[in-house]
Amino acid sequence: MTSEYRHTPVLLAECLEYSNLKPQHTFVDATLGGAGHSSEAAKLIGSGGTLIGIDQDEVALAAARQKLGTLPDDVRPRLELVRGNFGAMDEALLSTEVPGVDAFLFDLGVSSVQIDTPSRGFSFKENGPLDMRMDPGKQTLTAAEIINTYNAADLTRIIRTYSDEKWASRIAEFVVRERQNAPIETSAQLVDVIKAAIPASARRAGGHPAKRTFQALRIEVNGELDVLRSGLDAAIRWLNPGGRLVVISYHSLEDRIVKDTFASFANRCTCPPDLPVCACGKQPILDIVTRKPIVPTAEEIERNPRARSAKLRVAQKR
Ligand SMILES: C[S@@+](CC[C@H](N)C(=O)[O-])C[C@H]1O[C@@H](n2cnc3c(N)ncnc32)[C@H](O)[C@@H]1O
Ligand SMILES: [Zn+2]
Repeated sequence: MTSEYRHTPVLLAECLEYSNLKPQHTFVDATLGGAGHSSEAAKLIGSGGTLIGIDQDEVALAAARQKLGTLPDDVRPRLELVRGNFGAMDEALLSTEVPGVDAFLFDLGVSSVQIDTPSRGFSFKENGPLDMRMDPGKQTLTAAEIINTYNAADLTRIIRTYSDEKWASRIAEFVVRERQNAPIETSAQLVDVIKAAIPASARRAGGHPAKRTFQALRIEVNGELDVLRSGLDAAIRWLNPGGRLVVISYHSLEDRIVKDTFASFANRCTCPPDLPVCACGKQPILDIVTRKPIVPTAEEIERNPRARSAKLRVAQKR
C-alpha cells in the first residue's frame, strides 16, 4: 500500500537549489510526506550527511521510510525519521542528537494522499466522516466536533478568519439550524448545508462553495497557524550560520506568517523610527533570500494543479 503513495513534490528543483545543500550537511524535512523532496535532497548530502524527516502522519512516514530505503548505499545519508509535530521541533531534534542544521524545508498543509483518502475527511469532493486530524492517534478534536458543538459566533469567527469566506455568518447560522435536527457527521452533509447557505448567484466565483469552509476547519482542527509560528521560530534557532530556511505555503495566512517571521528576524531593531542611529543594538539574525515569493511555472501548474497556490520563501541565517 505504501508504494502507492502518490504525491508530486511542488517546486522541487527550486527547493533543492535554494536549500544550498552540500555533501555531509544536516537537512531537516519538517513535513516529510512521501519524501518527494527528501529523496532528492538525500543525494545532495550523500552518505556523510544526516537527513531528519518529521511528519505527524504515520501513513506518510511509512511511505517515506520505504522510499528512502531504496536509495543506493553510497548516497543514503544517516536517516532519522521522527513521528511528531514540527510545532514541537526541539523535542524532535533533541532526539536525533544533531548539534545544528544546514537547511530546513517546510512544505505546508496536507498531501495529495491525505486529501484523496475519503476516510480522513479532508475532501469536500468525496463523502467521508468529518475528521481532518493529521495525527488521529494524538489529536482528539475533529471537524465534526467543531461543527456540532461550537456556537454560531465561534463558527463564524473561524470560518471568516481562516478562509476569508464572505458568507461565514450565514454558513454558521445554517449549520446551527441543521444540527438541531440531527448531528452533521459527514463531508457530504456539510457540503449540502454550505450550498444552501450561499446564494446561488454568489456561487459562481471562487471555486467550489465548500472549499473555504473546509480549509478553515482543517486549520482549526490542526492548530496549523500556531504550530507554524513555533516551528519557524525553532528552526531559526537550530540553523547553523549560513544555513537556509525554505518554506512553501499554500494560502495567504500561512504566507503572511512566513513573511512576517522572516522580516522580524531580519530586522531586530526596536528603536523608535525618529532616532537617527540605532541605540538598541539588536542585530539581524536572518537575511531574506527571496524578496518576492517564488511561484510555480505555468508548466508545473499544468502538470500538477495542486501546485497552483504555492509560494516559496527562503531566508539564510547570519
Ligand atoms: C504537502 S505534504 C509534504 C509532501 C512532501 N514534501 C513530498 O513531496 O512528499 C505535507 C506533509 O506534512 C505533514 N504535516 C503537516 N503539518 C505538520 C505538522 N505541524 N507537523 C508535522 N507534520 C505535518 C502532513 O502530514 C503531510 O504529510
Ligand atoms: Zn535599534
